[in-house]
Order: sequence, then C-alpha cells, then structure tokens
Amino acid sequence: MCPPEHFSVLYEINPWMHVEVVVDPERAREQWAALAATLRSAGAEVETLAPQPGLPDLVFTANAGVVNGGVFVPSRFRHPQRQGETPHDVAWFEAHGYDVRPLPGGLSHEGAGDALPFGPAFLSGYRFRSDAAAHLDLSERLGAPVHPVELTDPRFYHFDLTFCPLDDRRALTVPSAWDGYGRKVVAAAVPEPFELAPDEAATFCANAVVVGRTVVMPLCPPRVGRQLETWGFDPVEVDVGEFLKAGGACRCLTLALDVDVPGAP
Ligand code: ARG
Repeated sequence: MCPPEHFSVLYEINPWMHVEVVVDPERAREQWAALAATLRSAGAEVETLAPQPGLPDLVFTANAGVVNGGVFVPSRFRHPQRQGETPHDVAWFEAHGYDVRPLPGGLSHEGAGDALPFGPAFLSGYRFRSDAAAHLDLSERLGAPVHPVELTDPRFYHFDLTFCPLDDRRALTVPSAWDGYGRKVVAAAVPEPFELAPDEAATFCANAVVVGRTVVMPLCPPRVGRQLETWGFDPVEVDVGEFLKAGGACRCLTLALDVDVPGAP
C-alpha cells in the first residue's frame, strides 16, 4: 500500500474522476489508515511504498504491476499521467529482491488492476487500460497462463472492479461488464461464481480485499452479504469514499504480494 500524502483528483482518466470534486486530505488519510488497520487485524502484513509528489494515483498500488512468486512484471500505463509511477514501483521491487521482468514497449498493461489469479492461471481484463496483445508477453514473464477477458463497460475500466476471487472455487463476478467470450472464459475457470447486478457492482463491492475468510469492501449490498456469509466469509465494510472520487476502492489501494500461480504442467 502507498499512503495518500499526495492523493488528489488532478486529471480525468476514468468516468468517475471529476477535477472539480475536491478530495479531503485528512479524510483520505483516515480512510487509508482504517483500511490498513482492518487488513492487519484480518491477518495481513502490510508493506508500504513511499508516496511521491505529482503522482496522485500512486496510492492505487494494484496498478503497480503483477506479482507471481518472486517475479514482478511492472505495468505499462495507458495514460501519460500515470507513467511516472513505474520507476518508483520498480525501485521498490528491486530493493525487495524481486526478479523484475518488464513487458516490451508499445503495449499497455495495468498490473493487478487487470490481471487476477484464479486457480492455475490469471484472468486478465483488457480494452480500456490493457491491450489484449500484452497477454502472451505477460504469461511468458509470469510463467503462468493468462486468459484474456474483454471489458465492455467504461465505468468498469479495470477487471478488478468486475471480478473478485474468494477462494479456489468461488468469486464475485460482474458478467454484464464483459463480452460474450469473456463470460465463457470466466465460466470455464470459476466453478461457483456469484453474479452481481450492475447497480451492485457500481458500489465497487467487487473491488474487495480477501484476507483468509475476511472480505473487505467499500460497501456490501445486502444480497452480497448474505451470499458471502452463506459461504462462510465475513464481509467487512471500510469507507473509502475519498478514493471513490478517483474511481478506485479497497482492492485498488493494495497489491497482493502472496500470489503464487505455478506454471502450466
Ligand atoms: N484514478 C485511477 C486510474 O484511473 C484509479 C485506479 C483504480 N485502480 C484499480 N485497480 N481499479 O487509473
């Protein structure tokens, strides 16, 4: 996670961002601290990346890149406004002993905002921020299969707003945000999906951080809460309203380091 010292809405690169909306820095700091504390009390260890002036979206560490075991594949951001983040992300992972494997130039991929592990592979959303053509290079570097899913709704411009892996069988899914082929890809990978309606997805409840059986989300619609409890999960709400102003929520504010998808047999 990266503390929100320099977080703000200074440009508009997704439909949720409006530069005229003011971020309250004190509230942002409190909300970020409450999220970190909730993750710690659920059993997570939290490492931090130093905030940098002029990079307001660096807080959304999900977009730093994709981790698999000791490998880190840094993002190639679509928008110039975020491209300055990458040297800071790479420096952190180099300093922590990761094998850093950049993607070739000319392609975009926005890291764990788009590529999420499920079972023996990654599912990776593309179109708004990541290019479908990046998936083969990503797979080679991660040493694991990457299955592409096309995103169709600009409000859900990153895959992690539409898909939340819960365990090795279950996930929260937003099929209305994918094309027909993408729906088939997810259906083939996930034995027990729980499908969210578009209005449920608009709460960003799929942008949840799962720590053991605890599912940390910005708001939990009643139907989602009942299903999670039936499955033995414990949904916890953390208000990240300041970050919703930038089009991001709980999961976007984190990057999981404990990912380990083995290579294809
Ligand atoms: N303002 C950021 C952007 O548009 C939000 C990123 C949200 N991150 C995510 N993983 N969905 O790039």
